[in-house]
Amino acid sequence: MVATSTDAGQPGTAQTGTAQIGVTGLAVMGRNLARNFARHGFTVAVHNRSWSKTESLVADHGDEGTFVASESMADFVASLERPRKVVVMVKAGAPTDAVIDELVPLLEEGDIVVDAGNAHFPDTIRREAALREHGLHFVGSGVSGGEEGALLGPSIMPGGTAEAYASLGPILEEIAAKVDGVPCCTYVGPDGAGHFVKMVHNGIEYADMQLIAEAYDLLRHGLGASAPEIGEVFATWNSGDLESFLIEITADVLAHTDAGTGRPFVDVVADRAEQKGTGRWTVQSGLDLGVPITGIAEATFARALSGSVPQRTAAAGTLPAHTQPWAVEDRDAFVEDVRLALYASKVVAYSQGFDQIAAASELYGWGIDRGAMARIWRGGCIIRARFLNRITEAYERDPQLPLLLADPYFTDAVSNGVAAWRRVVAAAATHGVPTPAFSSSLAYYDGVRAERLPAALIQAQRDFFGAHTYQRTDREGTFHTEWSGDRTEQPA
Ligand code: 6PG
Repeated sequence: MVATSTDAGQPGTAQTGTAQIGVTGLAVMGRNLARNFARHGFTVAVHNRSWSKTESLVADHGDEGTFVASESMADFVASLERPRKVVVMVKAGAPTDAVIDELVPLLEEGDIVVDAGNAHFPDTIRREAALREHGLHFVGSGVSGGEEGALLGPSIMPGGTAEAYASLGPILEEIAAKVDGVPCCTYVGPDGAGHFVKMVHNGIEYADMQLIAEAYDLLRHGLGASAPEIGEVFATWNSGDLESFLIEITADVLAHTDAGTGRPFVDVVADRAEQKGTGRWTVQSGLDLGVPITGIAEATFARALSGSVPQRTAAAGTLPAHTQPWAVEDRDAFVEDVRLALYASKVVAYSQGFDQIAAASELYGWGIDRGAMARIWRGGCIIRARFLNRITEAYERDPQLPLLLADPYFTDAVSNGVAAWRRVVAAAATHGVPTPAFSSSLAYYDGVRAERLPAALIQAQRDFFGAHTYQRTDREGTFHTEWSGDRTEQPA
């Protein structure tokens, strides 16, 4: 059923205050979210800067539920019941600020503005504080699952106040993906917590995609296999511990034939990966927090390298390879080694991502429950995967778990693959296949478990040239050695 808020000829008279949720910004994501709300029986107020987009939504999908279409923002706001819940689905950055500026004068105390775009969490912290001054709730919410997820059930990561979640949460949980009947949506924490968790989700997504790409590259070079043949390998992997949305679509993409050339589709795609920015934000945050998210960082830099055309052009045919020719004797064993290395590297990436969430939660006082985050990532989102059940269980066993890798289940699962992981990274180096994510993840594994690290030498070097001081293993305190004098050691 479709009503417009000017049905009775007077703005807002016919449908004033009847919509339980509203969506402004009806590009594909906003359109699909509005449809999802309507399909679940909510009366949905809809608005777009251009009325034609609103008209086409109700024309195409008006039979899916109850929409209240408004041409003006004022009518849109007036059509919402109190406390008003407005979902803003426009481009991150200035466009979001512009819509908020238009909305605020029209809203009343207790109303809720939800930013469901991929906003940068510092912007969300700023916006939440600004709207609080007006007695309004600002909810920065991650929404993951792309266009299909928005329509059929995304993973939703709302931040903001617990008070806002009390009225908004049940609606979001209704439309979210469900796993074992449990909504893939929960209250994440105050102000920017929701967008921070979504950002880390995307960083992990980058690592996941890079690791899959490296596994594909290794099989391509090591076996001389075609894309469709490797697609079959991924399809097989998807029935085991690696079962996930990204593995599933990889098998699908690799099996796809380009209609124009008849060649494997992936062979005609330009090998320059782009990025809209969420991975970059994750790495910047990891650097600020001092959390070594090496898998995510290498994945982000790998995208930048792939786009470094001048450097790649200068290197091609110039930099000698000095590699050994591949000679894989046991193909099945090699495939299994790559699978084990992929799984181990994936665990490292998630372990690092959850450490980053813990560090931010501590710094910002968000009180994020990492088990709950793993739980809502089990479905709907891009990184949805079987092993997120295991991560959920790990954080349920120990909510303060200092290192996911050290959880008994994951220690055991990864240790089964360490020898293979080493063989694969060695083979990649020997044969000149770039595996920055596989290799850095193994380096992280060895670094985090090392009895002693060469950081001791770095401390000594820093004290030598900069008198930056150091601590000792055998007694408390901080010290400096008089390197340019008699080399005596003084308490700093
Ligand atoms: C999601 C996706 C979504 C977006 C990615 C891809 O969770 O639904 O992550 O947010 O499609 O961020 O963007 P880039 O790869 O260009 O960063």
